[in-house]
Formats: sequence, structure tokens, C-alpha cells
Amino acid sequence: MTSDPLSTSPHSAHAGATLPEVAAAASTCTLCKLAGGRTQVVFGVGRADAELMFVGEGPGEQEDLKGEPFVGRAGQLLTQLIEGIGLTRADVYIANVVKCRPPGNRDPHPDEIEACAPWLDRQLELVRPRVIVTLGNFATKLLLQTKEGITKLRGTEFAFTRAGHAAIVIPTLHPSAVLRSGGRALAEARADFVHVKRALVRA
Ligand code: URA
Repeated sequence: MTSDPLSTSPHSAHAGATLPEVAAAASTCTLCKLAGGRTQVVFGVGRADAELMFVGEGPGEQEDLKGEPFVGRAGQLLTQLIEGIGLTRADVYIANVVKCRPPGNRDPHPDEIEACAPWLDRQLELVRPRVIVTLGNFATKLLLQTKEGITKLRGTEFAFTRAGHAAIVIPTLHPSAVLRSGGRALAEARADFVHVKRALVRA
């Protein structure tokens, strides 16, 4: 018996030992209904051994077309926030809770999140980041296994252990929410990124 969720999925044989292998296996995934509406699977991007990993919600239109997470307006803000702490996108790894675009940018459904979670698990196992930033409610709830909302959880940090690997989770507002709210939300996101920088130094 193994607790690897992929071992029971039809994709277990293709899960792979490296990120490119897992990405190749994921590119043909049909484990949920989002497969029917995507242009392509948006697996993840960045350094395979990044110390810092970001987890968003799911691809939007631009991401679905380009095959890369966070390349639209929210992505531009995320890039600015990353650069604001002296890093670049090339220094980090960026992924999403669901790897295929939900139609019309609706929220991902619980069954879609559950079906897709093994791919994120494999990314976490292979990248082994020391600090994980969850962007918004969906990533925060999934990784922290909580029902608490992001506005309550941001501004602090949480211990995270998976498959013998320990990391710190720092929840922050989703860049799309920051774009919608502006002002104070932007200040909070910037403060969370300063927190991330400090955590990287200490982790
Ligand atoms: N929002 C997300 O959560 N992920 C993306 O990749 C783009 C926008």
C-alpha cells in the first residue's frame, strides 16, 4: 500500500521522476471536466529547485493560451511583487491549484481541485521549496486544509510538512483581488512579500 494519490490514478504510470516528466504526463490529463475546455494544460514554470514557490488558483484566458501561469494582468502584478523583494520569476517556481482553465474564469469546483491535487503534490515533492506562498483562498485552503478565509490568514505563517519535507506557508491575497481592491490590499500584499523575504533568509 502506498499513500501516493497518483498511484491509484490512471496517470500513475506516467507520473515521472522529474518536473518535465510529470509535466508531460499532466499534459494529457483527463481526470476532471476542465480537460474538455482547455487549450492546453498550464502545468507550472520556474526553477526546478526553487526555494520559493507560489501557488495560485487556476489559469485564466492568457495563461490557457500561453501555457504559462500568471502571464495576464494578475501575473504582471505578481511579477512586480516578486521583483520588489529583489527576485525574478526565474528564481521561483509558479503553479496553480488547478492546471486547466475553468470556463469563463469561474471558481474551480471541489471535484476539480481534488482531481488536480496530485499534480501539485508532485510539484511540491520535486521542487521542495522552503517557502510556499499561497495566493488567495483556493491555494490557502488546499495547502493548509482549512476553511478559514485569506483575509484572516494573511499576515502570518504556517508550518507545512509533506512527505518528510518541511516548509513555511505564507498566505497572501490573490493578485486579482489586489487589482480589484487596490490601496490597502496592495499595501498588505507588499507587506506579505517583505515577510516572504525575511522567511527566506531565516528558513
Ligand atoms: N490567476 C491564477 O490564479 N493563476 C494564474 O495562472 C493566473 C491568474
